[in-house]
Amino acid sequence: MNNTITSTYILAIESSCDDTAAAVLHNDKVLSNVVANQDIHQEYGGVVPELASRAHQQNIVPVVTAALRKANIDKNQLSAIAFTSGPGLLGSLLVGTSFAKSFAMGLDIPLIDVNHMQAHILAHFIDEEGYSKPTFPFLGVTISGGHTQIVRVDDYFTMEVIGQTIDDAVGEAFDKSAKILGLPYPGGPLIDKYAQLGDPKAFPFTKPKVGGLDFSFSGLKTQIMYFVQKQQLADPSFIDNRRDDVCASIQYTIVNILMDKIKKAVKETGITQIAIGGGVSANSGIRTALKASESKYGWTTYLPKFQYTTDNAAMIGIVGYLKYNSLSDKNSYQDLGVSAQSRLKI
Ligand code: KG4
Ligand code: ZN
Repeated sequence: MNNTITSTYILAIESSCDDTAAAVLHNDKVLSNVVANQDIHQEYGGVVPELASRAHQQNIVPVVTAALRKANIDKNQLSAIAFTSGPGLLGSLLVGTSFAKSFAMGLDIPLIDVNHMQAHILAHFIDEEGYSKPTFPFLGVTISGGHTQIVRVDDYFTMEVIGQTIDDAVGEAFDKSAKILGLPYPGGPLIDKYAQLGDPKAFPFTKPKVGGLDFSFSGLKTQIMYFVQKQQLADPSFIDNRRDDVCASIQYTIVNILMDKIKKAVKETGITQIAIGGGVSANSGIRTALKASESKYGWTTYLPKFQYTTDNAAMIGIVGYLKYNSLSDKNSYQDLGVSAQSRLKI
């Protein structure tokens, strides 16, 4: 990294899905990291794009104001504004993009567009006491309600997706399974909670057969649905009686699917550093399996603090900082023509 600047303040904005988030970073340290969750989607059992966009419009000003206040800095101290340009829901992205553009224009400071998927991976470079950062090359594994990817990372901005889901994301598999069991959205954390009380081998579900390093979760969801329907016909209290065992069996299957592909990716690339991100990385099953892999297979695993793994703006800020720092001409980021892109690739 050339031209290291000693004092850079970045305001970062994230609005790609249903969380409105803003953060302030001083160099690679997080001064504030504010997230406004949108509870409105709970009653629909999933994110409703139009409602998300409207909630972002309501939240963006208070969230940015809170981030600046918590960081204890004035807007005139900011060096640049970083924002998520994609991928994500277009209506949601547009709120953050328009806000970031106008704020950067008003303050006459650089505007830095950030790829949300790169940010999930580069979140590992946020400076946190006691957290050791991965070294290149490593495998970034991003698992959340919207993403399931294995990425080969050779440098900050040299990365390649080597495996991804061909249908549902892993978080969706958790949430949709939870819905089948009558659990509220998002059900992933509840499946995790009940799984810890049950027998993971009680009900064997079959793993999908998908080539290479890609994933598929929609078949598993259908399998679980038919399984539960059949059991309920025989015993209407099946869910009440066996909830913990069903949750443990679902979690066991999903964790195995993930671990099988990570093992395959390690074998194919020879890379044994695994850096995990996304909301599903909070899952106790995947955490235990990854930790065990250190002594079992000699891997090194990186699990950042939970607030940096779910959708957040601090991860957008660290990318903003890395991008800002790598350019000698800071004004080259002043392109206000940059737009939101729902299908942006890494
Ligand atoms: O990263 P995130 O907050 O938002 C995006 O989807 O981008 O991830 C949310 C997802 C949801 O699907 C939620 O059910 C899942 O992460 N999740 C979990 C756990 N905690 C969150 N899934 C399984 N076990 C958990 N402990
Ligand atoms: Zn995300």
